[in-house]
Amino acid sequence: MANNKDIFKKIISHAKEYGFIFQSSEIYDGLSAVYDYGQYGVELKNNIKDYWWKSMVQYHENIVGVDAAIFMHPTVWKASGHTDAFNDPMIDNKDSKKRYRADVLVEDHIVKIEAKIQKEVTKAAKRFGEAFDEQQFLSTNKRVLDYKVKIEDIKTRLYPAMDENNLDDIKNLIEELGIVCPLSGSRNWTDVRQFDLMFSTNIGSLSEEASRIYLRPETAQGIFVNFLNIQKTGRMKIPFGIAQIGKAFRNEIVARQFIFRMREFEQMEMQFFVRPGEELKWFEYWKEQRMKWHLGMGIPENKYKFHKHEKLAHYANAAFDIEFEFPIGFKELEGIHSRTDFDLSSHQKFSGKKIQYYDPDLKDSYVPCVVETSIGLDRTFLAVFSHAFTEEKLEDGSERVVMKLPPFLAPIKAAVLPLVKKDGLPEKALEIFNSLKYDYMCYYEEKDSIGKRYRRQDAIGTPYCITVDHQTIEDNTVTIRERDTMKQDRIDIGKISGIVAERLKNMNLY
Ligand code: GAP
Repeated sequence: MANNKDIFKKIISHAKEYGFIFQSSEIYDGLSAVYDYGQYGVELKNNIKDYWWKSMVQYHENIVGVDAAIFMHPTVWKASGHTDAFNDPMIDNKDSKKRYRADVLVEDHIVKIEAKIQKEVTKAAKRFGEAFDEQQFLSTNKRVLDYKVKIEDIKTRLYPAMDENNLDDIKNLIEELGIVCPLSGSRNWTDVRQFDLMFSTNIGSLSEEASRIYLRPETAQGIFVNFLNIQKTGRMKIPFGIAQIGKAFRNEIVARQFIFRMREFEQMEMQFFVRPGEELKWFEYWKEQRMKWHLGMGIPENKYKFHKHEKLAHYANAAFDIEFEFPIGFKELEGIHSRTDFDLSSHQKFSGKKIQYYDPDLKDSYVPCVVETSIGLDRTFLAVFSHAFTEEKLEDGSERVVMKLPPFLAPIKAAVLPLVKKDGLPEKALEIFNSLKYDYMCYYEEKDSIGKRYRRQDAIGTPYCITVDHQTIEDNTVTIRERDTMKQDRIDIGKISGIVAERLKNMNLY
C-alpha cells in the first residue's frame, strides 16, 4: 500500500496534470511556495469561496462583507504588533545551505521522541496481547517516563526562549540535542537570527523610510480599520460581523509543502464584534458553527479535530485551531480566536481617533471585543482536494482515479458528450449544453472514445456525464452517468436539469 508521502506526491501531480494547480512561473523553473490555479482549480476555489461567503454573509442578517486594499498605512502594522513581532527565528546549515525555522527543528526533534514512545507502545501491545492496558503502560513504563521527562525538559527550555526572544538559548538547545540538518546530516549551524515575515515595498518616491509599506500578512486589519465606516454606514448593531476574502503574503522560511504553506495565499476571515464580557460565549458559538461548516462539505468527522492553544497570544483570552488530517498529518486549517478589545483599542491609540460603539441598550459607549474566525482558502482547497482523491480498482481489472468532490464544489457539474462526431449527435449535444449552461458550469467534448472521456471527467470530479447517442435523435432521451457509482440511466432530456439540481444542493446549510 502506498504511504502518505507517496499519496501526497500523487495528489500534487494529479493537481498539475488535470489543470488544478501549477507552480508559478514554471517556464522559468518556478517561484518557490507560489502557485497558480488552473482552469479547474479556479472553479473549485471559487466554489469554496462561495460556500464560505454564503454561509457567513448571506445566511446571517448581522454579518456584512468588505473588500479592503492589500496595501495599508504602515502604522496599521505597528498597531497590530506585526512590525515588532511578526518574525520567526531561523538558522542555516552551513553545509547544505538550507534554512530552517529554529523552533520547528526543535519541535521535529520532540516528534521523534514521541515516535519512540509509540514504538514502545506497539512493542508492548504485541508482547502482552489482549491483556495490554495502554494507559497504564504509558503512566508506568520507565523508558516511556524518561522520554516524557525529556520532552518536558525541551519544552520548558524552548517556549520561554521563544517568548523572551533568547536566540542564543535556542541555538544552544539545538546543539545540546545534537540536532542534525535533515539534508546534509551535519551539525554545522549558523547563529539563530530573526527573520521578518512581512514583504515590504515602496510607495511613491523611492527609498525614503516614510514611503515603506507592506503587503498585508493577514486580511483582518482591513476589517478593523473599517470598523467605524461599516458600523455607521451599515447602521450595524452589536453583535455583528464583517467578513472578507483576500490575499495575504508571508515570507515563510519553511515552505515546502505545496499549497499548505505559501508565500502568497488567500484567507477567509470574519471578525465578530461583541459586548465586552460576552466574548467567550460568542467564541463557543463560532467554534461550533465553524466545525459544522466543515462537516457540511460531507467530509467525515474523524478527519477534523480541535486543538486548544495552551499558550495564548498576549491579546487573546481563548484560541482553538481546527486541524485537518492532510496527507502530511493533522495540521492547522482554521483558527478561532477571542482577541478581546486589543485590535480596536490599539488602532484607537495609534490613530488618535475614537473607535467606540454606543450601545443603545446599555446606554453606554465601549470598545467592542472581537471573536475571529480565520481560515486559509488554499488549505481548505488542499483538504477538500486530498480527501476527494481516490484510486479505484474496477471489477474488470482496470483502474481509475476519481475525484469524489462534494458535487456542489465540483468545477464542472455536467459534461455533455456526443457518442460519435457525426449523424447530428454533436448538434443535439450542443443544444443540451446550451440549455444547461446558464444554470451550471458545463463542459462539452467530442474528442476520443466515450470511455476515455468518462475517465477524464472522473479525474476532475464531474458528478454527471450526459451522453447523446442515436436513440437521442429518435426519442429525445440521453444516458446520464453518475460519477461515484458509474451507474447509467436512460432519461428524458427534460429531466436532466432537475437531476443535476437535486445532487447539487449543499448537504447542510450553515
Ligand atoms: N488573522 C489571524 C491569522 O492570520 P493565522 O493562524 O496566522 O491567523 C489563519 O492564519 C489561517 O491562514 C491559518 O489557519 C491557515 O489556514 C492560513 N495560513 C496562514 N499562513 C499560511 C500560509 N503561509 N500558506 C497558506 N495558508 C496559510
